[in-house]
Amino acid sequence: MLIADKLRELRHILSEVNHVVVFTGAGISAESGVPTFRSPDGIWAKFKPEELANINAFMANPQRVWEWYEHRRTVVDQATPNPGHYAIVALESLFDRVDVITQNVDGLHARAGSRRIHELHGSLHAHRCLECSTPYDLAATEEGVPHCPSCGGLIRPGVVWFGEDLPQDVWQRAETSTRECDLFLSVGTSTVVYPAAQLPFLALSLGKHVIEVNPEATDLTRHADTVLQGAAGEILPELVATIRSDRSK
Ligand code: OAD
Repeated sequence: MLIADKLRELRHILSEVNHVVVFTGAGISAESGVPTFRSPDGIWAKFKPEELANINAFMANPQRVWEWYEHRRTVVDQATPNPGHYAIVALESLFDRVDVITQNVDGLHARAGSRRIHELHGSLHAHRCLECSTPYDLAATEEGVPHCPSCGGLIRPGVVWFGEDLPQDVWQRAETSTRECDLFLSVGTSTVVYPAAQLPFLALSLGKHVIEVNPEATDLTRHADTVLQGAAGEILPELVATIRSDRSK
């Protein structure tokens, strides 16, 4: 079935919706030029998570891990939000409440203008002390791994590493939003990294309408109520246009 036909079918469901959750992964930023993780040329095809994205790797070679995250921060700072990010912002003018639950650490939802963002995996732009957790404001000119002014500990990237818990306050808010929403959109994620990937399945178990937007099939595809196969930067603006045209009737 064509996307336009699927969107038409969704109309009666969308007209009943007040609260939307948009759950995003690396695919939403792909059209901004930020690499995803699991594509053939993605981040995990070039680097090993066990050598970079965990506490042992950082303790063994802080400088190496720091430089890798600084490189990724430079890439995302040079990127700009794409039509997919902006379509999610536009949903805020069409529904009472829109929660963006993201696994991304790139800050592009905030730069696009989304207001209610839950960053499950932290942020490339937040740093903190490894020892005392005091947040650290990184100066633009700083080079090398800084030390904490309070306790002298190493400063670490504010992202969630493999083997670490998600920030519990953010997770609680994400779970509550999933329980309370009327519509759950899963966009640009392979839905393989837990506990984040629990959320679309929680939404399904609670009888929420779950829409997946992704050019490829994922673990969620055969369970989702509606699958909109394609790039987020094309599908999401179409979704917004469909809702707008219905509202103007
Ligand atoms: P993945 O790289 O696993 O998956 C990206 C998904 O985006 C794939 O399903 C692609 O098909 C899809 N995709 C690609 N281009 C797209 C586009 N233009 N529009 C829509 N979808 C597109 O990334 P995540 O699912 O985000 O965790 O990965 C989850 C976590 O694994 C990340 O947060 C990171 C990683 O290890 C940590 O670092 C803790």
